[in-house]
Amino acid sequence: MEKKLAIFASGSGSNAENIINHFSGNKNVSFPFILCNKKDAYVKVRAERLNVPFRLFTKDELKDGTVLGWLQEAKVDYVILAGFLLQVPSAIIEAFPNRIINIHPALLPKFGGKGMYGSHVHEAVVAAGEKESGISIHYVNENLDEGQVIFQAKCKVLPTDTPEDVAHNVHELEYQYFPQVIAQVIGE
Ligand code: GAR
Repeated sequence: MEKKLAIFASGSGSNAENIINHFSGNKNVSFPFILCNKKDAYVKVRAERLNVPFRLFTKDELKDGTVLGWLQEAKVDYVILAGFLLQVPSAIIEAFPNRIINIHPALLPKFGGKGMYGSHVHEAVVAAGEKESGISIHYVNENLDEGQVIFQAKCKVLPTDTPEDVAHNVHELEYQYFPQVIAQVIGE
C-alpha cells in the first residue's frame, strides 16, 4: 500500500530534497506536500524544482487545527520533520502516534531542547569543547527533543573545528542516514 509522507521544513530544505530524491523511484512512497512556516525559506524553491506541492502556514494555523486538517485530508501516514523549527502541537502528536520523525543535529540528550536548533547547536558543541557530535533521529513526543531515539551516528569534532565545520560534517551524516532510517521505519 502506498505510504504518504508529509515533510515539514523551515529553512534551506536540503534534507527535504535529499529524502524526496531518495524515494523518487519508489512507487510505494509519495509526498503530498512540503509544509513550511517561513515564507522566504529556500525549501520553497526546492519544492518547485521537485514538483512537490508547497504549503505555507502560520503559527496560528499550526495550533488551531488547520494544518492537522490538511494532513488528515491528504491521508498522510507519516510526518517527517526535516529542519522544522517550531514545536509540534499535541493535537498533531496525538493524531500520529509514533509516526512523526525528527532529525536533530547533535547527539541527544545533549544539546537538545529550546533554542537548540541549526547553527546554535553547532556553536554550543564547539563552545563546550566536545570531541564528537552527530545526528539523532527520533520519534516526536510532547517534550521537545525527548522522544524515543531511533538512530544516532557520530562524527569527530577536532579542536580546530569551527561551528561551520561541524555543521558540514553533521549535514553529511544527515544526507547519508536520514532517508535510510525513514525507509526502515515505514517498511520500504
Ligand atoms: C538540519 O541540520 C537539521 O538537523 C536541523 O536543521 C537543519 C536543517 O537543514 N534541525 C534542527 O535543528 C531541529 N531542532 P536543511 O533545511 O538544509 O535540511
